Amino acid sequence: MSDKNKNNEKNMITFRPHAREDLPLRIKWLNNQSAMKYASDSTEDTDAQKENNWFDDYENNPAKKFFTICADDLPIGFMGVRKIDEKEKIGNVFILIGEDDYRGKGIGLISMNWLIDYAFNVLHLEKLDLEVDKRNLHAIELYKTLNFQTVGEVGDEWEMLLLKKDFIS
Ligand SMILES: CC(C)(COP(=O)(O)OP(=O)(O)OC[C@H]1O[C@@H](n2cnc3c(N)ncnc32)[C@H](O)[C@@H]1OP(=O)(O)O)[C@@H](O)C(=O)NCCC(=O)NCCS
Repeated sequence: MSDKNKNNEKNMITFRPHAREDLPLRIKWLNNQSAMKYASDSTEDTDAQKENNWFDDYENNPAKKFFTICADDLPIGFMGVRKIDEKEKIGNVFILIGEDDYRGKGIGLISMNWLIDYAFNVLHLEKLDLEVDKRNLHAIELYKTLNFQTVGEVGDEWEMLLLKKDFIS
């Protein structure tokens, strides 16, 4: 792991499978304008019904593996691999630290390192891609630190790609 992880302020960061019990927090995080500023095109708030429907689909969708990020056992956000394509060995990653006090402390870097390691070494994927809003400089910085390369652009977003051989944990 990179020595940039020293940025972490001594919180014990752990990850657990995303669960239905996380839905009230998902609603809080997804409706948090400061966290979602550059993370979604949608301006519509989510609610319990939408998130329950989402979880029903998620549980039965083998192409998605999501994790809840905890700091000292407190859930602070979630991340995951979606669009998992076992044949093409590619997946699409995302992360959302929904609790305002926990961004900018190195937790994103620790979490993405863990997720990428999981995607390459447990799911046996060879490539990970993502889309990021061009204004989301903080996220772009994080992805560059992890060795993602910009490979294209669609509208307001950069498309970035990480090959397994380029991942240095
Ligand atoms: C993007 C996000 C995951 C980054 O996680 P984080 O824990 O806040 O980031 P880190 O503290 O690990 O820092 C990552 C990089 O951003 C930089 N950074 C930290 N705080 C910053 C800030 N306030 N402004 C700009 N850059 C900042 C750091 O310098 C670091 O780069 P470095 O390692 O080269 O020094 C997190 O801020 C987040 O969840 N944001 C809201 C949702 C979102 O935008 N998700 C991404 C969608 S593509």
